Amino acid sequence: MEQRVKRGGFGGKLAAILAAAGSAIGLGNIWRFPYITSENGGGAFILIYLGCILFLGLPLLVAEFAVGHNSKCNPIDAYSKIRKGWGWLGALGIVSVFLIMGYYFVISGWTLNYTLASATNSIGGDFGGFFSAFTTATWKPLIFTYLFILLNHFIIIGGVQGGIEKASKVMMPLLFAILVVLAVYSLWLPDGREALVNVFTPDFSKVTGKTFLDAMGQAFFTLSVGMGAMLIYGSYFKDGTKIAGTAISVVSLDTLVALIAAVIIFSAGVENESGMQLAFVAMPKVFSTMPMGNVWATLFFLLLGLAALSSTISMHEAVTSYFVEKRGMSRNKGAIIVTIGVLVLSTVASLSLGDWSDYKVAGMNIFALLDNFTAIVMLPLLGILTAIFVGWVWKKEDMKAELTAQGGIDQKTYPVLRFLLRYVCPVLVSVVFVFGIKAFIENL
Ligand code: TRP
Repeated sequence: MEQRVKRGGFGGKLAAILAAAGSAIGLGNIWRFPYITSENGGGAFILIYLGCILFLGLPLLVAEFAVGHNSKCNPIDAYSKIRKGWGWLGALGIVSVFLIMGYYFVISGWTLNYTLASATNSIGGDFGGFFSAFTTATWKPLIFTYLFILLNHFIIIGGVQGGIEKASKVMMPLLFAILVVLAVYSLWLPDGREALVNVFTPDFSKVTGKTFLDAMGQAFFTLSVGMGAMLIYGSYFKDGTKIAGTAISVVSLDTLVALIAAVIIFSAGVENESGMQLAFVAMPKVFSTMPMGNVWATLFFLLLGLAALSSTISMHEAVTSYFVEKRGMSRNKGAIIVTIGVLVLSTVASLSLGDWSDYKVAGMNIFALLDNFTAIVMLPLLGILTAIFVGWVWKKEDMKAELTAQGGIDQKTYPVLRFLLRYVCPVLVSVVFVFGIKAFIENL
């Protein structure tokens, strides 16, 4: 655990919030949240989702920040420094986040192509055709994915302050500005306000066991918890940055963005589309019918791309920090290894939608396998283990000191948080996890 390199860190509180909010706000908010919401009955799902965010996601985010902030280490050393023999938990997170990168970068690459194609008005009239021709092609999606990976690489080698912090300070305000412009415009559309009412009117008849599964999975995914990404950011917090306050800001911003994205998408009247089709097929189609449609479409895909980029840098950083601190490599070398690994995995994921779509594991192509395995198995599992670690394994006095004295949690809130981490999170997440695995296996 010897420190060979001087560790980087964020310059201040705002930087910490923007970077962590950047990790949280991603493809999960802008395309995943709206379609999962509409599949699950709108307002009813949102209520359950908000419950998951508040009672499971927020405590876990605080827990992960605390482990990072307390140990000031990469994910593996962080756990083993607090309790010997627990480094594997950090390793499990690193492996999982690497698997997520495998498909996340592919979609991120698409956003680049769609931004360009919208700006140059070259999508044409057949939106579904454009999407399937592009995503199943061999080279074109790969080139955009590689470009996106390269963009990421350059931010990462810029360092924590010179790369991640600087990029977040530019990207996040831009992202919020685009979001507000699109939201105002969509509420101004004839169907906009009606959509707003529809989204938030609960339809409890659509609530089933799967609703809870989806709500929890979405809450974990959107907050990037359990995989070391938030842990490494927590380890870069400047002294005096309060964990609780930062976590609340991040959760609030993330939730706000998800809700606004849902309004934008539903006001376009596309809530019945699902999955990737929603953002990449239905939205361009709607924009094409609007005055100045390609301007709106360009803004929308730029928004999606910015959200993706600020998330992928946190994933990359979590893995890079391992090579730098644990393997004693320079930042450049560590980043190159991660970048090459991601290049290889995302190549496989991208090709698995086209040329290699006949290779299936458990009935899924590699792209879908990476997505489903991480979302259904790894995210909840890491959530349970993180809660157990902080609630049961971490020495009580040390944990308390970290959360209260350092973390800024008052004496009245602390027992509530501890209770949530010790009992509520492990038990509830385990129940949902078991049902998720069952459904996953039945679907094979
Ligand atoms: N939170 C991001 C989103 O909503 C995805 C993400 C970023 C993530 N970093 C992560 C998910 C780490 C899991 C683990 O798109």
